[in-house]
Amino acid sequence: MRKTFFIMALGALVCSCSQPAEQTADYQVVPLPQVIDVAADASPFVLKSSTKIAVANDSLIREAQFLQEYVADLTGHQLKIEPNADKNVIRVEATLDNSNPDAYQISVDKDQIVINGATNAGTFYGIQTLRKAIPEQLIPSNVAFPAGMVAAAPRFGYRGAHLDIARHPMEVDSVKSFIDMIAMHGINKFHWHLTDDQGWRIEIKKYPKLAEIASYRPGTMVGNNWEEFDTIPVSGCLTQEQAKDIVRYAAECHIQVIPEIDLPGHMVAALEAYPELGCTGGPYKAWQKWGISKDLLCAGNDSTYIFLDDILNEICDIFPSQMVHIGGDECPKDRWKECKKCQAKIKELGLKSDKNSSAEEKLQSYVMARAMETLSKRGRRAIGWDEILEGGATGDVVIMSWRGTEGAEIAAKSGHDAILTPVQYCYFDYCQGPDRESEPVSIGGYLPVEKVYNFEPISPEFTPEEAAHILGVQANLWREYIKTLSHSQYMELPRLAALSEVQWLQPEQKNYDQFVDRARRLTKHYDAAGYNYARHIFQPTDSIAQ
Ligand code: ACM
Ligand code: ZN
Repeated sequence: MRKTFFIMALGALVCSCSQPAEQTADYQVVPLPQVIDVAADASPFVLKSSTKIAVANDSLIREAQFLQEYVADLTGHQLKIEPNADKNVIRVEATLDNSNPDAYQISVDKDQIVINGATNAGTFYGIQTLRKAIPEQLIPSNVAFPAGMVAAAPRFGYRGAHLDIARHPMEVDSVKSFIDMIAMHGINKFHWHLTDDQGWRIEIKKYPKLAEIASYRPGTMVGNNWEEFDTIPVSGCLTQEQAKDIVRYAAECHIQVIPEIDLPGHMVAALEAYPELGCTGGPYKAWQKWGISKDLLCAGNDSTYIFLDDILNEICDIFPSQMVHIGGDECPKDRWKECKKCQAKIKELGLKSDKNSSAEEKLQSYVMARAMETLSKRGRRAIGWDEILEGGATGDVVIMSWRGTEGAEIAAKSGHDAILTPVQYCYFDYCQGPDRESEPVSIGGYLPVEKVYNFEPISPEFTPEEAAHILGVQANLWREYIKTLSHSQYMELPRLAALSEVQWLQPEQKNYDQFVDRARRLTKHYDAAGYNYARHIFQPTDSIAQ
């Protein structure tokens, strides 16, 4: 008798524990959809373990799998993908009639949710919104999605996030995790900084010493102390197959990988491997400190142009992106002024100083133009940092404006496309909080979330034609002081959330206070994904000093 009672009681307990909790979805996510139309008195759609996912065609299977993974992760339900599911179904389609390829619409009634994109990318963004509408990871739980309609289309076509792996290499899985994180924020361009003075991180088959020698340094300056160096070797060079694997994964997340080979400066590591390509002939050593080196590729040496042509061709083989970044930043001209070969090249090309540019700045424009020629033969377009305007930018190059917004303004007014990534608003290596002492060791500076949020990329001075040259906005993560994935996440989050609303919303749709509420809810997804993030804006004591 007592035993029967015990078994019955246990049964009741098991029963009540296995009853999933019910959460109610909230469509006020980051980035905020432009349309959120909820029919308050209509019955919601309840996502439960028996819910199915139906794909309109086979090309949408990967998108459906992402949805499946997100739902399993947040609710514990393993939804089945069934082409002919009828009721209790989430439909994944890509037939939305919208000229913006990234637009999506989500329609919800009690029988079904339809996620419809203008392209598969739009569908993917709709899936991200549906995922973020689930309040939190709660296993097991059902989710009631209020009936109605949600729709969005991003303001900019170029929505970038940059990652420097030259200063500190990253494992393939960490790079993929970074890609997952930017995908959660509706970002579609991954600008990958692969080479710099401190290390070369991509295999180039014609130049094996880049992997063997240039990817290694024996130590690194300690913290912010320019006089002290550790003896911890830093090395790592992705094979071309590893890079292609990352490109494939990013493509599944509708993210294009834009590789950067920074030239003709930021090349000291490569010069260690191939010293004959420098003006002095070396010897050179991959830098163990940060900053700007005077040593560049020699622009008077024919081998330099062969080297660049070979490298960029292999880069085009690995990365199918329409755009390739060729750097061009921070190239002091001291060596070129002293180098006989560089000066002979200036003479040969008939380059003369004028009131706008020195002959050496024009020589840099020539080097950039040669690199662009290689890319254009491969049907690609070059991006360069805004310094390339100094000697006069030629051709169809896209200007990446980082020293402020002036580069973008000059570019747009002279008919060049531009991407904005001004240091004051988009450098996420700056501190998250005002008190540098309580932040991880960093390059310094202070960039609060609110300042990122309030960045307006289109100058009020622009004509509509000039404004159309602004392709978009990007945040940069230079990793001199950032060794780990977890630290990288901390520097990115939640500033990436603020950036995503700059990238997706029209200015009149933005509201910082409401954004903070949305970002607070987004942190439940950061928690579910195990991301490390800064909490300053969620704390009442936070003061924003700009
Ligand atoms: C840069 O921050 N040197 C582009
Ligand atoms: Zn030279």
